Amino acid sequence: MRCYLHAFLLCVAFSFFSLLYVFNQLASTLEDGDEWNLKQQDVPDGSRRDAAHLLRKKPGLAGLRHHNGLDRCKSQSVSYWNPYWRLPADVCGENCLLESRERRGSPVKVNKDERSHLAVVACGPRLEETLTMLKSSVLFSKKPLHFYIFAEDDLHDSFRNALESWPGTVQTKFTFTIYPITFPKENANEWKKLFKPCASQRLFLPLILKEVDSLLYVDTDIIFLQSVEDIWALLSQFNSSHLAAMAPEHEEPRIGWYNRFARHPYYGKTGINSGVMLMNMTRVREKLFKNDMTAVTLRWEEILMPLLQKYKLNITWGDQDLINIIFHHNPESLYVFPCQWNYRPDHCIYGSNCQQAEQEGVFILHGNRGVYHDDKQPAFRAVYQAIQKYSFGDNMETSLLQPLEASLQATTHTYCGRTSHLFTKRLKQSIMSVQQDITQKR
Ligand SMILES: *[C@@H]1O[C@H](CO)[C@@H](O)[C@H](O)[C@H]1NC(C)=O
Ligand SMILES: *[C@@H]1O[C@H](CO)[C@@H](O)[C@H](O)[C@H]1NC(C)=O
Ligand SMILES: *[C@@H]1O[C@H](CO)[C@@H](O)[C@H](O)[C@H]1NC(C)=O
Repeated sequence: MRCYLHAFLLCVAFSFFSLLYVFNQLASTLEDGDEWNLKQQDVPDGSRRDAAHLLRKKPGLAGLRHHNGLDRCKSQSVSYWNPYWRLPADVCGENCLLESRERRGSPVKVNKDERSHLAVVACGPRLEETLTMLKSSVLFSKKPLHFYIFAEDDLHDSFRNALESWPGTVQTKFTFTIYPITFPKENANEWKKLFKPCASQRLFLPLILKEVDSLLYVDTDIIFLQSVEDIWALLSQFNSSHLAAMAPEHEEPRIGWYNRFARHPYYGKTGINSGVMLMNMTRVREKLFKNDMTAVTLRWEEILMPLLQKYKLNITWGDQDLINIIFHHNPESLYVFPCQWNYRPDHCIYGSNCQQAEQEGVFILHGNRGVYHDDKQPAFRAVYQAIQKYSFGDNMETSLLQPLEASLQATTHTYCGRTSHLFTKRLKQSIMSVQQDITQKR
């Protein structure tokens, strides 16, 4: 009796394995068929791959993200018997399932966005100046950047070509999007009648870039002397009512403009300068602003037009004046950062008056009133030209810092030239820090 049982079990086991074998064979012939079908479609398939390849050649992370092997996973179903490591590379298997799950999860990771988001508005002859600003931003930053470039239509190609001509190693550090100068879709025509498009574009950034949480807006005449992530980090110092950060317009009230001449309200003792403006735009969009036009609070998109209507005869510096009026009435919303984050000729033209820069050096240089392009402030122009002339990949100490120090030596007949050691103080540290980073990676 036991003998029969043994034979029976053996039989069952044997037929199970033969069945397994048959299925396996069947499955692999089916797959061979699929492969053959694929080969027949070789032409379209090949061109699709080329397209993916082209996509990947697009600059920076964007190009990579677009590709990411997406078309790899939509291919045929897979025999259950084949472990995934035996599958051809372009066929979907368990590894792909894992990948796709990760990919589906990625929108949730938006919070972990490591990038600093940098916006600029460039019109007229500002192309070269803007590119020099962007160059300074990538030179000293270690974390990736995204550029939002708002420009007149005829500058778009020049921007794209210039940025795409930067070396591949530099392009991995940033992505960019180029936008036309626009007004928010809602009542665009009304806006157009009231505002000069280029001058006031920055006011509309929270309304145009609705998906963007936070943004560093800078004028085109900005030069970064340290990494963008350092100013970006100030966002985390915002208390619950802060929604924007700017520097005072003046340190010295005796030479201040707003406190002596303004015919409208302004922030604080001397007003604020909007050339370097860090914004939590989520909060700007949510905030209800107190104002002197109605008893009720108004949203950002509701406040701009009445404000302009009321003050258009009294404002001198355009949208910066509007920003000053808004924060005059909502002072708790403004985080004021010190002058070394927005260092202008006003800080040295009659002698040095930016104390924080005296201690720590200049972090961000702002050559307003055209000083990069004329002879009025040669120390400012020297910094601009040093960054402009530097070629990516050259040694920053010998090809950027040393030539700059030499040309600053020739500016000591001016007040700003006499304080120009402050221009290179932080720059030196930034360069050392980047070079350390490079040697560590080697
Ligand atoms: C901006 O503010 C919103 C709302 O308070 C907050 O959820 C978000 O984390 C802030 N962004 C940054 C970068 O701090
Ligand atoms: C504009 O300036 C004039 C002259 O200083 C002043 O009388 C007037 O009140 C100002 N207008 C507004 C809306 O503040
Ligand atoms: C945030 O700081 C500002 C000063 O920058 C202050 O006026 C405001 O009351 C603070 N808000 C909160 C909620 O503490």
